[in-house]
Amino acid sequence: MLTGGGDCPGLNAVIRAVVRKGERHYSDELVGFLDGWKGVLDRETMPLDVERCRGLLPKGGTMLGTSRTNPYKVDGGSQKALDNLRAEGIDALIAIGGDDTLGVAYKLAGEGLMVVGVPKTIDNDLSATEVTFGFDTAVQIATDAIDRLHTTAESHDRVMVVEVMGRHAGWIATHAGIAGGAAEILIPEEPFDIEAICDRLRGRHDRGRYASLVVVAEGAVPVEGTMEVQSGEVDAFGHVRLGGIANRVAQGIEERTGFETRVTILGHVQRGGTPTASDRILATRFGIAAIDAAHAGASGQMVALQAGHIVLVSLEEAVGKSKTVDPELYHGVAEVFFG
Ligand code: F6P
Repeated sequence: MLTGGGDCPGLNAVIRAVVRKGERHYSDELVGFLDGWKGVLDRETMPLDVERCRGLLPKGGTMLGTSRTNPYKVDGGSQKALDNLRAEGIDALIAIGGDDTLGVAYKLAGEGLMVVGVPKTIDNDLSATEVTFGFDTAVQIATDAIDRLHTTAESHDRVMVVEVMGRHAGWIATHAGIAGGAAEILIPEEPFDIEAICDRLRGRHDRGRYASLVVVAEGAVPVEGTMEVQSGEVDAFGHVRLGGIANRVAQGIEERTGFETRVTILGHVQRGGTPTASDRILATRFGIAAIDAAHAGASGQMVALQAGHIVLVSLEEAVGKSKTVDPELYHGVAEVFFG
């Protein structure tokens, strides 16, 4: 088993479920690779058994550690990964991760590795599954923050801009914005128009309601040519470093409306801490289904939630494209409450 990419509440619940059913039901010998694919390349492992997983269920993070290492971006990495897995005597690998991690799993499956995927991301942007574990926790954390920001916003008659995660998709922003009663929700899928936002905020003001909550996904972008936003900074794995769009939006609002504005960037708080009950249950169901799939020889498949049931889908289908916010939810529900 390995966990790759950004961590996510519920990873430990998956590990615990795989270990429990693997050991007690299938009499498997289980092992974890440390820090995602990095552990496969470096042959860094830890034995896993029911005893080692005691008390794991409510813990955030991942007991195996994680990284964004991608063997296909390392010279000779994919062959090394296959060789090391063979040398470790691995019959089947369960890869728990998002788009990048599962993309590697998909390619290695094509090279003959017996691998099953488990979808993970707080962003909920993986195709082929209705929801990923971690998302519910992130939405709850963001909603709690919005509730708290409401009372201080009202006391001071301020506009509060709160930035949540969501690089390619605005699921957290949309759900937390609806749940928290946001006056505006800005997501990557729907380029925003700062002038229109300010008009609606002025309208609120005219109707006697000054305090406003504006929820911004970190990947939100303005309509082309209306505002300068990108810093262009990238991390060691070539991903653009996000965070900060809220500052630009707040500045834009304050300059145009004169309303006093403050910014809160929630950042990694959304990924930390204990998973909600709902995420623990989904993660547990995914873990059980993954070990069953491994024993059924379902290589190149991923466990997924569809219509309330756990099903198997091809990794190809899952990593092909990201799942963006349903326009019906954004325009038909969230937008009704804008302004
Ligand atoms: O896991 C996805 C994600 O949470 C994105 O929403 C966010 O942009 C990114 O991870 C942050 O990653 P890092 O932990 O590398 O800063």
